[in-house]
Amino acid sequence: MTSSGRSNGTVEVFEQAAASYDRTGVSFFGPFGAELVRRAGIRPGERVLDVGCGRGAVLFPAADATGSTGHVTGIDLAPAMVALTAEDVTRAGLTHVDVRVGDAQQPDFPPGSFDVVLAGLVVFLLPDPRQALQTYARLLRPAGRLAISTFAAQDPAFVAAMDALAAHLPADRPRPAPAAAPFADDGAITATMAAVGLAVTAIREHRLESHFHNVDHWMEWMWSHGGRALLSHIPADRLDAATADAARALEPARLSGGGLTLTTAIRVTVATPYPAAAQPEPS
Ligand SMILES: C[S@@+](CC[C@H](N)C(=O)[O-])C[C@H]1O[C@@H](n2cnc3c(N)ncnc32)[C@H](O)[C@@H]1O
Repeated sequence: MTSSGRSNGTVEVFEQAAASYDRTGVSFFGPFGAELVRRAGIRPGERVLDVGCGRGAVLFPAADATGSTGHVTGIDLAPAMVALTAEDVTRAGLTHVDVRVGDAQQPDFPPGSFDVVLAGLVVFLLPDPRQALQTYARLLRPAGRLAISTFAAQDPAFVAAMDALAAHLPADRPRPAPAAAPFADDGAITATMAAVGLAVTAIREHRLESHFHNVDHWMEWMWSHGGRALLSHIPADRLDAATADAARALEPARLSGGGLTLTTAIRVTVATPYPAAAQPEPS
């Protein structure tokens, strides 16, 4: 197994989260994955690679879009994600889909293997996102498309709750980092893509409201995805106090019935390889 994701601990977090990832009854990864696939404009018969496929929020809509005349390959570096998603693929009888352990930093396929490469909420987790995008560009056929989603805006109540939790981390533990610079805004994304030979054809924001029964449900959801990276470093004897502080921070998101609603915005970027003759001059 390659080791890029292991070096920063990201993959261990998702390995431990795999069983509950996108399975806590919260509408989040599913709608975002479906929107990414919709924007990629996948046609029946196309060959698709889904990097960092997780539990299939992107993979399954992509398999619908290609139909059985096409093919979708999902890769993820967390073996538990791959095993559980492969079971779901088999259960759904999708013979045109395969899922395997593979590194999204450097997917190992021959050049020009795919019509579409999809990366749902993953590129900013990679050790070297620019190099990964360059590899994806090489994997595309000449008129192929790369479609990625990245976070655009978090609910202020979510940000406040994350800060409240982070205040309970040991002093030597780094605080969660803000959005990765190559994806900070439309301009940065366009420049990042251009630097690796990809022309952006569209960047669209997509907002989603997610509902939680209460703060315990929100915490259950936080343990089920990348939020686990923060929670798992809070000492066990501080978790109750951390949860109480997060609950106070989430008050602005509380509904009259006691539930919580948080709004998240992602950017979906679609890009296509520059024809060799139209490559921009390196700056
Ligand atoms: C936030 S989840 C997104 C999963 C899925 N695309 C979705 O939209 O629900 C990120 C996924 O990327 C995987 N991942 C992180 N680093 C990776 C790497 N270097 N190679 C492959 N997968 C990686 C994680 O294991 C996790 O399944």
